[in-house]
Amino acid sequence: MRGSLPGFRDLYPEDCALRRHIVETFLDVLGRFSFEEYDGPLLEPLELFTDKSGPEIAEQLFQFEDRGGRKVALRPEMTPTLARMAGARAQTLRRPIRWCAVGEQFRYERPQKGRLRSFLQLNGDILGEPGFRADGELMGALLSVLSALGLGPADISLRLSDRKLWGLLLGHFPCDGAAVLRAIDRYGKEPAAATEERLRKAMEPPAGQFLAAWEQLRACNSLAALEAFFQKFPSPELESRLAEWADLLQFLTDLGLAEFVTVDLSIVRGLAYYTGFVFEVFERSGEGRALAGGGRYDDLTEKLAAVPLPACGFAIGDVVLSNILREKNLFAGGRSAPDLWLFWDRDRQSAALALAAAARRAGSRVAYDLRNDLPDRQLRRADRSGARFALFPDGGGWLLKNLLTGETFFTLLENFPSLWTRVGGLA
Ligand code: HAM
Repeated sequence: MRGSLPGFRDLYPEDCALRRHIVETFLDVLGRFSFEEYDGPLLEPLELFTDKSGPEIAEQLFQFEDRGGRKVALRPEMTPTLARMAGARAQTLRRPIRWCAVGEQFRYERPQKGRLRSFLQLNGDILGEPGFRADGELMGALLSVLSALGLGPADISLRLSDRKLWGLLLGHFPCDGAAVLRAIDRYGKEPAAATEERLRKAMEPPAGQFLAAWEQLRACNSLAALEAFFQKFPSPELESRLAEWADLLQFLTDLGLAEFVTVDLSIVRGLAYYTGFVFEVFERSGEGRALAGGGRYDDLTEKLAAVPLPACGFAIGDVVLSNILREKNLFAGGRSAPDLWLFWDRDRQSAALALAAAARRAGSRVAYDLRNDLPDRQLRRADRSGARFALFPDGGGWLLKNLLTGETFFTLLENFPSLWTRVGGLA
């Protein structure tokens, strides 16, 4: 028998339990940061992504022509859809707009550890606010989700960088700026010599001075180090940008999240639309792919919806995140055992099903044999199910047994709901 397509997953119940835990935690934490949920179409016009996401994503699209001759693509990310949606209502939405989304994305990548062709993304974005506090709030929401899932500063770090600082630096070196950033984005994902070759091609020769600067910049892992590095390239823009860096880091410190943050200018992000602070979250061990990434993209809504709307956002991917949560034993498993196992025989079917319905209405998980088998077989299945309580027919009524303590309670059909609450059946 054939398996699923390469890079597509079969999710078994234990996988769905973990996914649900991640999604519920995300929505709960984003709710506490006052975000509202939105969603968009899975299938979009092709040019939404070929124009706006940049060449790397354009090469990874699942694209085809629909029966009406339209060129379409499965969404590889949410951001262009979000920019279109927010742009369309920009005049009426109260700002800042804080929206979040959970949805499957599709990219035709080479499947490998942490990278698939279909994966879930958890997106959070703030639109309509140009200042650094929106960036800080957004990173705060992202890191709070990851902390709520059990990941602390010893496990993960947010590597913070800045396309504006990169722009200011590249102003001093004649080059194809976009090609330089694409090359820097490859750094660490390929042999260092290959990145250097890309950089040489993007620079006007000689490239030696830039390569030396890049080596020094890579070693900067604090704001103080960045300030020292940029002393060679003074300008009023640089000074005010470094002041914004200090304000952003203070904001994150005040949110209690400073320990997660590392300065790392080798992060530039593969997507084309970023304009300011950018970041990715990695496991501290330094192994593995990013589990989240994002940044500021102030021009995208203007390009897509002709409405200027400054914005910043992030997306967490579920593939790397699930691997880490499993490896670190941070998910105990979903609740699958029934609360109540119901024994019944043919003569008592109506009463048994009425009891099951009452317990289910009260919110309990109820199971029973679908075979109407011998009592000892039912008992074995009840045992294996891990149920906390069992209910047996007993004379004119029913006997409720706590399978953990052995305690029993006699009840009539009509009194069952109150007994069920009293014994903590809903817990
Ligand atoms: P991205 O860095 O392309 O950003 O993706 C965000 C996260 O999605 C990655 O860190 C990774 O965990 C996950 N991811 C990406 N590609 C794959 C894949 N092939 N398999 C498994 N997981 C993957 C964005 O998508 C931006 N739209 C984020 C954003 C939102 N920027 C502003 N707002």
